[in-house]
Amino acid sequence: MKVTCGRMSKRTVQLQRNGGKNMRYKHFQNANVDVSELAVGTWAIGESGRYGNVDRNDAIEAIQAALDGGVNLIDTAPCYGTGASEKIVGEAIHGFDRSKILISTKCGLVPYASPVTRGNSRNASYKNIMREIQTSLNLLGTDYVDFYFIHWPDPATDIAETMSALNVLKKRGYIRYIGLSNFNEEQILEAEEWGQVDVIQPPYSMVNRRDEKLMKWAYDKGINTLTYGSLGSGILTGAFREIPKFENERDIRNTFYDFFKEPKFSKVMELLKVMDEIAAAHNKPVAQVAINWSAKQEFVGTALCGLSNVREAKENCATFEWSLSDEEFDRLNKELERLSIG
Ligand SMILES: NC(=O)c1ccc[n+]([C@@H]2O[C@H](COP(=O)([O-])OP(=O)(O)OC[C@H]3O[C@@H](n4cnc5c(N)ncnc54)[C@H](OP(=O)(O)O)[C@@H]3O)[C@@H](O)[C@H]2O)c1
Repeated sequence: MKVTCGRMSKRTVQLQRNGGKNMRYKHFQNANVDVSELAVGTWAIGESGRYGNVDRNDAIEAIQAALDGGVNLIDTAPCYGTGASEKIVGEAIHGFDRSKILISTKCGLVPYASPVTRGNSRNASYKNIMREIQTSLNLLGTDYVDFYFIHWPDPATDIAETMSALNVLKKRGYIRYIGLSNFNEEQILEAEEWGQVDVIQPPYSMVNRRDEKLMKWAYDKGINTLTYGSLGSGILTGAFREIPKFENERDIRNTFYDFFKEPKFSKVMELLKVMDEIAAAHNKPVAQVAINWSAKQEFVGTALCGLSNVREAKENCATFEWSLSDEEFDRLNKELERLSIG
């Protein structure tokens, strides 16, 4: 298999010198690969304005800072800014040793399929998957994807057809591992009748533990998890202490995540009081408490965390300079139970 970004460069040397100093890695069982416990999410850098406005150069530098900090997985998708995010990821990894980076992208959620609603539409058909992989590879500037996810279940396509497309891509070397995102247990079992499922991608953080049972079940079967929204879309960093007003009414923090409105917002503010105390006791930022909480659980393979700039990348990578004690972890969990959030 040809590797397009494989040349040794200044950037590669830097990655080898600095990368992984404090980073921790977990072994993904079905995929048989080691993944950093923190991974980069790129929804916000899609230039769609639906997640604030992240400057393109800031985004590239942030991704590179995360790679320098030992992160080895970057997650993106065609619908994050209709290809813009994939293109930025491609630019960011240019000059790095491609064989040391794991790229995760998705298919089956076609961006702006309808010019009228400007919504995404589900299409996990064989034909569409074959079309989408080519576009993603072109935008990413690589000739293979490591983790390839079906973004959301497509009720109109038989899972046998979807899995057949993924199996063909795997066999031909265009993708290394098969992933299912936002699938439930029954849907995963159906998919497994047609081929190996390597990873899943559900939402998971202190403010959304809906899929914890699913993740534990998958972990026991060798399917590891990339959790999304691991910082509660930023709320678990302590950056918001009052209900924010996002300029764009289509901002996903108004539409996709439910922490920025009541009744959840006040409960998260209560949780933050405990997080503040733990962070202060270690003299560390609150975001690191959230990432450490995720990483401490064996069924969390890696915590996907979006970022907007180098400061956030460095701060998040520095999480693994310390760990939550068992008492602190229990205290957070008791608080989650008391508040009944997540
Ligand atoms: N499969 C799916 O259906 C699906 C759905 C959602 C997300 N995802 C993936 O999961 C990734 C993570 O989710 P997400 O990006 O939506 O939410 P997130 O990771 O919970 O939150 C990311 C936001 O937190 C803020 N942040 C990050 N580090 C910070 C720090 N140290 N201090 C202060 N603020 C910080 C940044 O926003 P600001 O700097 O702008 O405040 C960043 O955009 C996505 O990027 C995407 O790759 C997948």
